[in-house]
Amino acid sequence: MVATVDAVNQRSSPRPDSRLLKTVKLGAGSQYEKEIHRIAMAPLTRFRNTPGTQAPTDLSVTYYQQRASPKGLIVNEATFVSAEAGGYPTAPGIHSEEQIAGWKKVTDAVHSKNGYIYLQAWALGRANAGQQEGVETVAPSAIGLKDHPVPREMTTEDIDNFVKAYGVAAANAKKAGFDGVELHGANGYLVNQFLESVSNKRTDAYGGDWQGRSKFLFRVLDELINVFGQERIGVRLSPWGRFQDQLEEDPYATYIPVVQEIVKRYPKFGYIHFVEPRNWTGIPETRFPKEGIVESNDPFRAIIRGIDISSYSSPSDYAKTNPSFEDPTPEHPTVVISAAGHDADNVEEFVERTGDIACIGRYYISNPDLPERIFKGYPVRKYDRSTFYSPGPVGYIDQPTWEEESRAKHVENVAVQP
Ligand SMILES: Cc1cc2nc3c(=O)[nH]c(=O)nc-3n(C[C@H](O)[C@H](O)[C@H](O)COP(=O)(O)O)c2cc1C
Repeated sequence: MVATVDAVNQRSSPRPDSRLLKTVKLGAGSQYEKEIHRIAMAPLTRFRNTPGTQAPTDLSVTYYQQRASPKGLIVNEATFVSAEAGGYPTAPGIHSEEQIAGWKKVTDAVHSKNGYIYLQAWALGRANAGQQEGVETVAPSAIGLKDHPVPREMTTEDIDNFVKAYGVAAANAKKAGFDGVELHGANGYLVNQFLESVSNKRTDAYGGDWQGRSKFLFRVLDELINVFGQERIGVRLSPWGRFQDQLEEDPYATYIPVVQEIVKRYPKFGYIHFVEPRNWTGIPETRFPKEGIVESNDPFRAIIRGIDISSYSSPSDYAKTNPSFEDPTPEHPTVVISAAGHDADNVEEFVERTGDIACIGRYYISNPDLPERIFKGYPVRKYDRSTFYSPGPVGYIDQPTWEEESRAKHVENVAVQP
């Protein structure tokens, strides 16, 4: 394959005392404590699993092994907790023996490189586009998305069944050798649909105020924690996400109490993974929070680090101060992971201020050795959108490491700062 290096990607390496080069403790002070470096691989759906069984293939084993790094955290592609949660024939599941066996090969491959891998537990809800026969579209409320079937409003029995399915999925993930589970609570999928009032108009115990709308989230987290313990569970949230018609008028009104409740209920909670308020989908933004709201995850970082922001007139006012944050401690052990828009050029400054683990998606597709490239200041390859979801090995397992690339003849003259 032809390797291309974009001259604009020539960079210097991080400062030797950079926070980016220091590890973070996940599960600080617990029996599960792990040192993790600051560049994680984001969950990335690639639609390359076996049609029919929805099990990972040997190509997936290679793909994840290539991207594993010592002390590096990978969140796997979103994975259906049950057949009912699904809707894409080549997205994976974690509800059959074949799928568990397939994932076991993946987790073994990642562990062989001293890396870690969490399962992202997924259910589509109203985002089911009806591509898989026999999977009914159900959601908190019967509010459809454009070009999607109108969902049936979930009964309390449906809710109980889904909650149980997440527990079974977590037990299966454990069997498959995953180091933990990240609940997919972001980007307009089922948990996100329950959390936000745009998609949840229920009048029973699972709707209404933030407490009602987060009841499903907490029931599911309880199930996952039953299997893995608090320290090894994370949740991904997208308070600013507009994807799939989400977004609250005032996201803080929902997400501040939800984050407070997570760290209060689960004082040893592993991590909260925020999608940054920037648009990675390429879809033009059509929704906005109400006027005056500053879109920032800093107020959530403050809550997680135990910083009292109540003297500020609003979370937005606090966000305007551009605060910086300490690392997790055994008293406030929950790690913050941040995704969307991080790249080799801006990540050092971002991590210096926030202390987060930066989770990178698109550049990890085109750079299997992304952490090394960033830590050592090597050039980073641009990604190719046309192979994000295409079947087969192209754009999947054929992306070179820097070492392989620098062997290629045409990059011999590129000046690299070691
Ligand atoms: C091809 C592709 C697949 C994705 N699949 C998932 C997914 O399965 N689960 C999820 O939470 N986010 C998913 N995302 C969002 C990414 O995890 C990440 O938040 C997004 O790409 C922004 O980060 P980046 O700017 O580093 O790419 C996906 C994004 C892309 C481009």
